[in-house]
Amino acid sequence: MNDRKEIELDITDLAFDGKAVGHIDGKVIFCDGGLPGERVRIKITRTKPRFANARVEEILTRCDDRIDPVCEHDHQCGGCTWQDLKYERQLQCKQEQVAACLKHIGGLDHIEVADIVPAAKQFYYRNKMEFSFHLTEDGESRLGLHRRGHFDDIFDIHHCHLQSEFSNKVVKAVRDFTAEKEIPVYNVHDHSGYLRFLVVREAKRTGQNLINLVTARGELPNKDEFVAMLCEQFPEITTIVHNETGSKANIAVGESETILFGDGSIEEEVCGLRFRIMANSFFQTNSDQAEVLYNIGFDLLKPEVGERLLDLYCGTGTIGIIAASRVAEVVGAELVTDAIRVARENATANNVENISFFEGNVKDLLKQDEFLSGGFDSIIIDPPRAGLHPKALRRMLRLNPGKILYISCNPATFARDAKEIIDQKYSIDSVTPVDMFPHTKHIELVGLFTRTNG
Ligand SMILES: C[S@@+](CC[C@H](N)C(=O)[O-])C[C@H]1O[C@@H](n2cnc3c(N)ncnc32)[C@H](O)[C@@H]1O
Repeated sequence: MNDRKEIELDITDLAFDGKAVGHIDGKVIFCDGGLPGERVRIKITRTKPRFANARVEEILTRCDDRIDPVCEHDHQCGGCTWQDLKYERQLQCKQEQVAACLKHIGGLDHIEVADIVPAAKQFYYRNKMEFSFHLTEDGESRLGLHRRGHFDDIFDIHHCHLQSEFSNKVVKAVRDFTAEKEIPVYNVHDHSGYLRFLVVREAKRTGQNLINLVTARGELPNKDEFVAMLCEQFPEITTIVHNETGSKANIAVGESETILFGDGSIEEEVCGLRFRIMANSFFQTNSDQAEVLYNIGFDLLKPEVGERLLDLYCGTGTIGIIAASRVAEVVGAELVTDAIRVARENATANNVENISFFEGNVKDLLKQDEFLSGGFDSIIIDPPRAGLHPKALRRMLRLNPGKILYISCNPATFARDAKEIIDQKYSIDSVTPVDMFPHTKHIELVGLFTRTNG
């Protein structure tokens, strides 16, 4: 096997990151196409001692699970990995990947993986999308999504099936406007230029829409015309904000925000309560499935009237605020200042008085007396993909809660953390994966740990 040779390969599996997997002479081959059960012709693009990466040149035999993708961008887009795979088979793959993580990373093959909960909507389910501006080598400006496998190449999206027709039209209008006005586009290599991201947030249940233009530092040229153009063409827009950032990190988060239209926030409804969402604050990106996920969590946790509940990594307070009516008191903890402010406003707007929020890093808060006073009967954790920091995990377990409900967006770090939690005298019978993101590789899951040492 060498870099230039074209080879035939049987695809046997799908890897955690969405890549197709086959084997040659004991070496694992990760391919950017192909489905289990298919024979493909590949070209090796990179070799390492134990694995190689390959590009699929031709599908020689199609598997029965292959379908025609609905999206015209499927061949190039880094968003949907599995639009060409029947939805039922996508679910099965996700379920198998959760089991594999528990077994291989946590050594936890005794934990049952409950049937994955399918998404009610397979298309147009996202309430947030981030689109990137990009300047090609030929000087052509683009606004769209990342080309698969490329952090620095963007293609013009015409119709994405993940958010809505409204969002597709906004992207086109902003692309046309900024090109006509010749507003300079940011370059991720030399950090010159101005326009960086367009973020569309769409509260699916209230119909409110937030448009966020993220740029390098500096006044937005043609600002009034930009706002007038959007408001005229899209009366459904409720607020427009401009975020500026001096950071070189390629993330659509501003360091300072100017409200251009409306009040800078939208409201979404989950579990019968209303939540305020700002441009930079976290909110689950599939509102319908967030409700499903939270309800499964509450059914497992069975919060009790006299309990004190700790909601770690609480974002804008959603879970704790929903749980508050079922317990005596809730304390939420979150790193992002804006999210904490909004969490407090959300509690007030929903007339929830038995909740308080602390701003800070969970691992530091978990050693502060004021934060810990009163103790906690149960803890809900919903960390980012990296899972729990070892210190946060150790300090959380020192609180000796009766129950820990773990909501995870990464089965690998869940499995790693689960092993530590179980080693400290907790048990868990099962985990439930919930599909929040059809056609993508992302997996969400929830599981309850119960203290076994009395
Ligand atoms: C997956 S989100 C969960 C949000 C919330 N539970 C919900 O369902 O809307 C993870 C949250 O953890 C916050 N976060 C990340 N690292 C943190 C840390 N070290 N300490 C506290 N919060 C952190 C993020 O800002 C984000 O709001």
